[in-house]
Amino acid sequence: MKPGFLEKLVARLDRVEHGEVQQIVTRLIREKGFLEKVFEALQEGVILLDPNGTIDFVNQAACGFFGLDPDKATGEHLSSQVRGLDWNTLGKPGHAISRDLEVFYPENRFLNFYLSPIDDGEKSGETLGYVMLVRDLTRTRAEAEETLESERLNALTLLAAGVAHEIGNPLNSLDIHLQLLGRKFRKLPPGDRKPLEDHLATARGEIQRLDTILKQFLHAVRPTAPRRERSDLHTLLHESLRLLEHELESRKITVDLDLAPSLPMVTVDPGQFQQVFYNLIRNAYQALPAENGRITLRMCFNDYEYVISIEDNGTGISPDHMGAIFEPYRTTKSSGSGLGLLIVRRIVREHGGEISIESQENQGTRVTIHLPRTERTVRLLGSPTIDLA
Ligand SMILES: Nc1ncnc2c1ncn2[C@@H]1O[C@H](COP(=O)(O)OP(=O)(O)OP(=O)(O)O)[C@@H](O)[C@H]1O
Ligand SMILES: [Mg+2]
Repeated sequence: MKPGFLEKLVARLDRVEHGEVQQIVTRLIREKGFLEKVFEALQEGVILLDPNGTIDFVNQAACGFFGLDPDKATGEHLSSQVRGLDWNTLGKPGHAISRDLEVFYPENRFLNFYLSPIDDGEKSGETLGYVMLVRDLTRTRAEAEETLESERLNALTLLAAGVAHEIGNPLNSLDIHLQLLGRKFRKLPPGDRKPLEDHLATARGEIQRLDTILKQFLHAVRPTAPRRERSDLHTLLHESLRLLEHELESRKITVDLDLAPSLPMVTVDPGQFQQVFYNLIRNAYQALPAENGRITLRMCFNDYEYVISIEDNGTGISPDHMGAIFEPYRTTKSSGSGLGLLIVRRIVREHGGEISIESQENQGTRVTIHLPRTERTVRLLGSPTIDLA
């Protein structure tokens, strides 16, 4: 229908034949139905408002974002339906605005909306109403945060590698000079030689220790590409448990295993996954109370993924601390480095998986790993599902 057609029609309405009016009205109704279908098919939220901010139309996506019922919301004022959005600060004739929004109910989401006035197209510039387009930014925002985090981690890695290099060189030189001293000591009479050689051995032992700490630290922080091979998760878990056997037994800790039998083989870096299990079980163990400590290890799988969880009835994590749990050097332990969880998450992500932590103070903590099964030959890319029904 051409622009201005309706206006011309209204002006000539008394001269148009009855049959023709009927035809035009039917066409109008069909076009309205078509437009509504288009709006409903959009993933963006669409809200049409009258000049005062009363909702004329709201599509399904917008209802989903704001938890609205389309039948109840239509005819109501936007500010009463989306509490926290003040119409007086938004709707201004002739002004389009774009704002970001955090929604807390029915689901925590980050949205961006664009509110644009609909002018009547005439010189008078009268505003017929407003259209509000709403986009979901939750995923983009989460990705941006992940990128920022990995940039921070890369910066930290570079810094750490630089410092380690600077310490490594003088350490090396110290060791060489101590060796030279040792050669000179050999020329001394045996009585004088012995105490000096003891001091020398201690000094070289300490240098060796520093060197090992440095190497371990670099190994932990430097991202290494996983060397994947077909592995059995049960075996990896048992091997990690064996490394902690002594501590677990000495404190009489109950370890419950709930492992799905016939777990299919998985293609992962076995050494890295052993490190993942070891770190998580050790964290669980360190959080346990002096008595009746219990750790539950679960493993199951479905067509798409393995789900592994490590649960303890320990101290739990306070809500304040939860937000910083993966940050480097955040530790509540006198001898902890605060790198354990960071390394665990890096390994899990490098294998295409995800890690989540649920915890309640004084009740316990559950860490869950979702690891995709690599046997699949195709993988749908991580775009949101579109239900065509
Ligand atoms: N199962 C758990 N129960 C309670 N708190 C936990 C648990 N796992 C981790 N935490 C908390 O998260 C912090 C960070 O854990 P992370 O493993 O990264 O470092 P760490 O254990 O302190 O040191 P390390 O580098 O030796 O592992 C811990 O200091 C602890 O406060
Ligand atoms: Mg730890």
